[in-house]
Amino acid sequence: MSQKINISITKTSKSRLADTDFDNLPFGKTFSDHMFMADYSDGEWKNFQILPYGEIGILPAISALHYGQAFFEGIKAYKHVDGKVSIFRPDKNGERFNRSAERLCMPELPLEIFLESLSTLVNLDRDWVPAKENHSLYIRPFMFATDPFLGVTPSASYKYMVITGPVGPYFSKNLKVKIETNYSRACDGGFGFAKAAGNYGGSMLPNLKASQEGFDQLIWTDSREHAYIEELGAANVMFLMDGTLITPSTRDTILKGVTRDTVLTLAKKWNVPVEERRISVEEVLKGIKEGRISDAFGVGTAATIAHIAEIGHNGELYTLPDPAKREFSNKLLNTLNDLRYGRSSDGFGWNYLVNR
Ligand code: PLP
Ligand code: COI
Repeated sequence: MSQKINISITKTSKSRLADTDFDNLPFGKTFSDHMFMADYSDGEWKNFQILPYGEIGILPAISALHYGQAFFEGIKAYKHVDGKVSIFRPDKNGERFNRSAERLCMPELPLEIFLESLSTLVNLDRDWVPAKENHSLYIRPFMFATDPFLGVTPSASYKYMVITGPVGPYFSKNLKVKIETNYSRACDGGFGFAKAAGNYGGSMLPNLKASQEGFDQLIWTDSREHAYIEELGAANVMFLMDGTLITPSTRDTILKGVTRDTVLTLAKKWNVPVEERRISVEEVLKGIKEGRISDAFGVGTAATIAHIAEIGHNGELYTLPDPAKREFSNKLLNTLNDLRYGRSSDGFGWNYLVNR
C-alpha cells in the first residue's frame, strides 16, 4: 500500500507478546505492543505516530472527560490460513467514524488516514493476530476532545488514537435477553446512530439491572412507546420469521452495523427474503408463541453472530428453538468465518489485506 501519511514509528524495546496467554483471551483485556496517535489542531490532522502502548498524559480539564465529546469504532483483523492478515471491511467503519464525528461536532478524519493508521499498526503488531477459530485482533479506533476548557462548546483540538488487542468470543454462551420497557438507549433526534461514548455509559445501569434479574443482555426498544424492537445490547438484532429475515430498519436511534450489512448481503445472495422495517415487540412474542420464528440473533463486530436462546418480557419467558439446530445463523457464522480466515474466496472485496 502506498504511504499517504508520514507516520513516525517508535518500537517497543520490550514486547509483551511472549508473556501473553493466547489460550485465555477474555474480550478487551489484553493490548498489543503498539498504539497509533495523531493530533488535530489549527484545522488539520498532524503528528502521526506509532508508539509503545502505554499511558498518555492528559489534562484534567479536557472537554472529553466533562462533556463527552468522544466516540469510537470496533473492527477486527483476522489471520488467514496462508498467514496473511486482513482487516474486515474497515472502509465501512471509516465512513461511520465520520458520521459519529459530524454528530458530535468533531473533525472529519480522511478515510485514507483512517485506513493507513489501521493497516500500519496491525502490520507492525501482526504477530498479535490470533490464528484460532473465533479469535481475532480487535481494533479500537477512537477520537476525543482535548481542549482544557470548561465551556460547553466544541473543542478546537482532538486526539485520534488506535489500540488493538487479541480477543476470543465476546459472548461465551447463547443469550437470555430481556426486552427493556423502562430505560432507553437512544431517543429520536439524539445520537444513537453514532458510536458516541455516552451511549454506552448510559446503557450500563439498565444492563446491570437486567443482569441482576438473570439476563445476559437487553433488547432495546423505541423510547416513545417501548413497543418496537431496536437493538440487542451492542449489536443489531435479526429474526428469521416464516423464512424471511427481518431486522429493524436503521434510523437515528439505531447504529448502522457493518455486520448487519454483511449479513443482509449474504442473505440476499442466498435468496433469503429480507425485510428491513419496524418490528413490534408484540409481533416477535406472537411469532415465538406460534413457532414462526426459527432463528434470532445479534450481529456485531464484537458479538459476531450471537444466538438468542430466551427472551424475557414483563415477567414472562419465551423460549426459542435450540441454537445448535438452527440452520440459518449457524451457516452464517461458518460462511463468515471461512471468508474472514481466508478459507473461501472473498467475492465481495471485504478482506482488506495489510502489507498488500
Ligand atoms: N449496535 C451497537 C449499539 C453497537 O455498539 C454495535 C457494535 O459495534 C453494533 C450495533 C454492531 O455494529 P457493527 O456490526 O458495525 O460492529
Ligand atoms: C463492537 O462490536 O465493536 C462494539 O463496539 C461493541 C463494544 C461496545 C464491545
